[in-house]
Amino acid sequence: MITIRDVAKRFGAQVVLDGVDLDVEEGETLALLGPSGTGKSVLLKTIIGLIRPDRGDIVVDGLSVPTLSRKALAGLRRKIGYVFQNGALFDSDDVFENIRLGLTDPDQFNDAAFAQERAAECLRLVNLAPETLQKMPSELSGGMRKRVGIARAIAGRPKYVLYDEPTSGLDPVNSDIIDGLIRRLNDELGVTGIMVTHDVRGAFRTADRIALLTGGKVIAQGTPAEFRASEDPQVRAFLERDFASASI
Ligand SMILES: Nc1ncnc2c1ncn2[C@@H]1O[C@H](COP(=O)(O)OP(=O)(O)O)[C@@H](O)[C@H]1O
Ligand SMILES: [Mg+2]
Repeated sequence: MITIRDVAKRFGAQVVLDGVDLDVEEGETLALLGPSGTGKSVLLKTIIGLIRPDRGDIVVDGLSVPTLSRKALAGLRRKIGYVFQNGALFDSDDVFENIRLGLTDPDQFNDAAFAQERAAECLRLVNLAPETLQKMPSELSGGMRKRVGIARAIAGRPKYVLYDEPTSGLDPVNSDIIDGLIRRLNDELGVTGIMVTHDVRGAFRTADRIALLTGGKVIAQGTPAEFRASEDPQVRAFLERDFASASI
């Protein structure tokens, strides 16, 4: 479980997070929605300890992230897969080496046969053909690169996966594939996930619960049905932009 309490973060004079409260239950996928620049990526980074909040607490699996030693943080990170917004693949490494980097246990990483097998398995999970392992990132489409990024994030069999804009820049067909994949990782592997997105339609189709971050706070959270029925003017204003263009 991930518990976020009163988390605040500013950069210089710019207040980005201003008292965020959020719970992610074991085994659920939560979609974190919000306009661009509201601190969604910053919030994800506080969860894995890449950014330290000025105030508040983040508890993952019973551990208070801001207070962890470097060693304890490294241990916790083995349980968390992170799908970076831009994919963050290493262009000079082939797909196999990129996925192998997700093996956060050094023994697994150094066992060539194990790494091959695990990489092939993760590739299957993201619906990519086995021969993709030998390809270079530059040979892949945007959608395929996103899928390799997800394969890397799950290679170490993490309990949690944080997806930062997993479908941004993709066409609707590829977005649907990724959304379906997130659903499947949740259903089949029991992954607890947070997907940051500004794709309202994808969030409604994929997540168990939705939270809306705006003005530095989570101003609403609930099931897709509760969100759809919300009469909160800020929720309506955010949703209606997309309700207009997609039937959900
Ligand atoms: N390391 C940083 N240093 C200074 N400003 C930052 C840093 N990271 C993010 N910001 C600022 O915080 C705000 C929120 O960023 P971000 O979390 O990336 O937004 P988004 O909701 O689009 O993911 C932006 O104005 C961004 O410029
Ligand atoms: Mg972002």
